[in-house]
Amino acid sequence: MKEKLIKQAVQVLSNNFQKEGFTIPCKGLYPFQWKWDSGFIAIGLSYFNISNAKKEIETLLNAQWENGFIPHIVFHNESDTYFPGPDFHQSNLHFLSSKEYKSTGMTQPPVTGFVLQEMLRIASDKEGMLQFIETQIDKVYRNHQYFYKNRDIYNEGLVYIYHNWESGTDNSPIWDDIWETMNPPEYDFERRDTTHVDASQRPSKREYDYYLHIIEIAKEHNYDDTKIAELSPFLVQDPLFNAMLIKSNSALIGLYTKLGENEEKISQLKKWQEKSIKAFNEKLYNENLGAYVHYDLRNGKQIEFVSSSSFSPLFSGIPDEKKAKEIVNTMLTKFGGEDKYLCASFDPTSSRFNPKKYWRGPVWINLNWMLYYGLKDYGFIDVAQRVKEDSIELIKNDGFYEYFDSRKSNNGGYGGSDFSWSAALIIDLLHI
Ligand code: SER
Repeated sequence: MKEKLIKQAVQVLSNNFQKEGFTIPCKGLYPFQWKWDSGFIAIGLSYFNISNAKKEIETLLNAQWENGFIPHIVFHNESDTYFPGPDFHQSNLHFLSSKEYKSTGMTQPPVTGFVLQEMLRIASDKEGMLQFIETQIDKVYRNHQYFYKNRDIYNEGLVYIYHNWESGTDNSPIWDDIWETMNPPEYDFERRDTTHVDASQRPSKREYDYYLHIIEIAKEHNYDDTKIAELSPFLVQDPLFNAMLIKSNSALIGLYTKLGENEEKISQLKKWQEKSIKAFNEKLYNENLGAYVHYDLRNGKQIEFVSSSSFSPLFSGIPDEKKAKEIVNTMLTKFGGEDKYLCASFDPTSSRFNPKKYWRGPVWINLNWMLYYGLKDYGFIDVAQRVKEDSIELIKNDGFYEYFDSRKSNNGGYGGSDFSWSAALIIDLLHI
């Protein structure tokens, strides 16, 4: 079974690899290069095609802006199967955007640092991989500099996102109360996603109005970070995003130490790290819920809902043992019933839970992958094992889908099929 699944996963990744040197998340629905997808994909590629794994990272980092920003989508190629494309986003509005590559003007979770570390773990030619890392690592460092300089408005060690698409968890119920504070026009546009995937599994038309409206505001100000921080109706400190930045800080410290002669950068990274972990525990923990939560910077309050992002700090060594126990207890109590697969993307006990709709409830393999390692690091071996086995079972039963129903009684795979990061990360889980 294991060998067969790995072979199929390799096939998915090979089919989705493009001649320009990057992998699409899946055909039709996502026809370009996505930032966090590329990172997870490079981990899977490292097992069987190191050269493509390196290309994956290179093509992403080649599109970095002059201020260190890395965009969430890079439009290397033309495609009319996706909306909104390059003509809507207009990254050229920002004076420091890449002159060579069109992209969006928003970013996605900062995975690249820890991905380089994973690539080194997996590669058998460590020397060759370290040489590659040496050519790329300063770009990742500059990306972290960008975040701390431009996205940490109170200089507290926590960076903001200004769009739900930056979170990666696009239509999470976490954002519902923020949408209530906005009243965007009803835009006239042609959705493409719902021509590939059943509309019941995707965000609503009204939700797209909110998404587009935030971009319009950013565009009016040429994607200027200061203006966005001042004016965006969506301004959030997201635990998943910040946990990944913290994980990537640790990875960069480890990698620079291995490479040698980077004392100043290491010392800066350690300073960021200390401050970020402290603020994370002080500001993003909710005692009543026993979980980390999002902080709505625009409206000055915690958003009191539990999602799979609430447990992601385990991956980054953020909680102390007491908090780790509390959040695992919350995970098992709310998400872990025997009738369910771990780990739903949103609290199954909430009235906002929807097991079919994108980030409002289904299980996602990238979150499970992070949770597996996080749980294992903290010594929750049985729960980690369950997350791993559930992930493998879902893919074995349903195929390499984008997301999965968390109900065992009504299970199914949803969204895009032959989805690259589901294939990439299952390759890793099947090897360890
Ligand atoms: N995932 C988003 C979409 O559905 C964009 O990042 O288009």
